[in-house]
Amino acid sequence: MDIRHLINIGDVSLEWWESLYSLCREIMADPHAFSDSCRGRVMASLFFEPSTRTCFSFQTAMMRLGGSVFGFSDPSSTSASKGETLADTIRMVSAYSDVIVMRHPSEGAAMAASLYSEVPLINAGDGGHMHPTQTLTDLTTISALRGGIGDMTVGLCGDLKNGRTVHSLVLALSKFPNISYCLISPRELAMPDYMLDFMRKNGQRFIEVTSLESSLPQLDILYMTRIQRERFIDPLEYERLKGVYVLTRRKLDRAKPDLLIMHPLPRVDEIAQDVDDDPRAVYFEQARYGMFIRMALLYQMCQKPRIKPAVPESAGEHLCRNPVCITQKNPYLPVLTKEDDGLCCAYCDKKILTI
Ligand code: CP
Repeated sequence: MDIRHLINIGDVSLEWWESLYSLCREIMADPHAFSDSCRGRVMASLFFEPSTRTCFSFQTAMMRLGGSVFGFSDPSSTSASKGETLADTIRMVSAYSDVIVMRHPSEGAAMAASLYSEVPLINAGDGGHMHPTQTLTDLTTISALRGGIGDMTVGLCGDLKNGRTVHSLVLALSKFPNISYCLISPRELAMPDYMLDFMRKNGQRFIEVTSLESSLPQLDILYMTRIQRERFIDPLEYERLKGVYVLTRRKLDRAKPDLLIMHPLPRVDEIAQDVDDDPRAVYFEQARYGMFIRMALLYQMCQKPRIKPAVPESAGEHLCRNPVCITQKNPYLPVLTKEDDGLCCAYCDKKILTI
């Protein structure tokens, strides 16, 4: 199954992943053989939110394929600051480029942008919703370092409420065999109900716990995440919860010898510096794998023809009440819903409560 845009990792098939990873392995084995494969192609890099890894790894991935890059990492330098809509920005940018990479603080922004794009659009993170290319990075890391994905217990630790990387990772791992999860978080930052519903519906085995220490001995993968300060509405709540988990070298004494300690990064204080030298800590290697899988993705996306989008027609008002959904500040977007165990917003996937 092929895809036009990469918006939600749940949209991709196992076959699609296997073909992308196979290309990634070829690139990792001989990167120079691909150094002209996107010559003449242009990537637009639209970062409405800060980034180090995703932004730079996409940019360097395109450069290593021989392509060029333009874009911004500060939206205040663009006409968005004068009130230009996301739709118009995307219409312009897609006229100038062959592929768009976009990060945005609103949930569902990537889906909204894809409606107006003539070229493939890649979601580089949309609020607390999804981060599909981080997941491709994570799958690459696990595949490369464990020799395959499956038959493992994965600990997801930290801010499971706001962490888009863990949401995307669970959607992706559900396609692989025999995976159990320890969901480790304070109750206030537990995995959202819609994700737990997804896990139950798809037969994913999980337990929800609050203690990192007691979970560690069972884990094959520990996926640490930071408490996401920028997603808190109440700063006092952040102050109360920050620092709730700190992985130290001493705590790892009880962990398996072949544990993989992963983290999408950036870290704040949830992994002590003394863990960095432990051979089980693979988070910096993980970031480098991210560049190679993004090379494979860009290579694939740049082969696709330019297509004039047909924006769906719709009438009425948006019913989504998620305060951080893209539809809240962009009422001109077509009203789109989908059925997934009840009516959901097609942009941010949140349930629509009808009375
Ligand atoms: N992992 C990740 O998305 O990092 P950045 O926010 O630095 O891109």
